[in-house]
Amino acid sequence: MRVHVADHPLITHKLTVLRDKRTPSPVFRQLTEELVTLLAYEATREVRVAAVQIETPVTTTVGVQIDEPRPLVVPILRAGLGMLEGMTRLVPTAEVGFLGMVRDEETLKPTTYAERLPEDLSNRQCFVLDPMLATGGSLGAAIEYLFKRGAQDVTAICLLAAPEGVAAIEKQVEGHNVTLVLGSLDERLNENGYIVPGLGDAGDRLYGTV
Ligand code: URA
Repeated sequence: MRVHVADHPLITHKLTVLRDKRTPSPVFRQLTEELVTLLAYEATREVRVAAVQIETPVTTTVGVQIDEPRPLVVPILRAGLGMLEGMTRLVPTAEVGFLGMVRDEETLKPTTYAERLPEDLSNRQCFVLDPMLATGGSLGAAIEYLFKRGAQDVTAICLLAAPEGVAAIEKQVEGHNVTLVLGSLDERLNENGYIVPGLGDAGDRLYGTV
């Protein structure tokens, strides 16, 4: 597994405003989109392209275009939805699928409660959107699910991650082609499962339920 932590002053500046508890939902949403667009630039570094010949006004030349099958972007409900617009702005030809993950209160294992994905994922490059990599339970399950359905490689984009979550994903996806692109690798998880210093509950802050 590859882990890429963004190291750019613009990203750190925007994350600082995002973390601030006084930042209201509309600003939080806007900043989330901007951050995802910046992280998507890094996350798509290995996106598959094919050579294509075009005519400029001056001559014929060979460039590239994103190859088939199109990349698949998968926001994890609910907070991942706040990242979708920022991603599709950069990769407008990507296909979008949805995954809803919830923890089964009996087994404590994350299970899929909603799924809207293309039938055939073979050969697909998948980009999973999940703002907070905390314990890694739901993200790990989502990544595993995509591989089970035939995905070729999976890149997860997270605004913040805890080291505990990164370690859990690493263990869970061993042997698969996985990349994590993180806005920041924070210090730790607290006893309530929140990332420290973190930004609180991303879903609540995106959708104004606090
Ligand atoms: N999910 C969140 O929204 N915030 C955290 O800090 C951890 C998980």
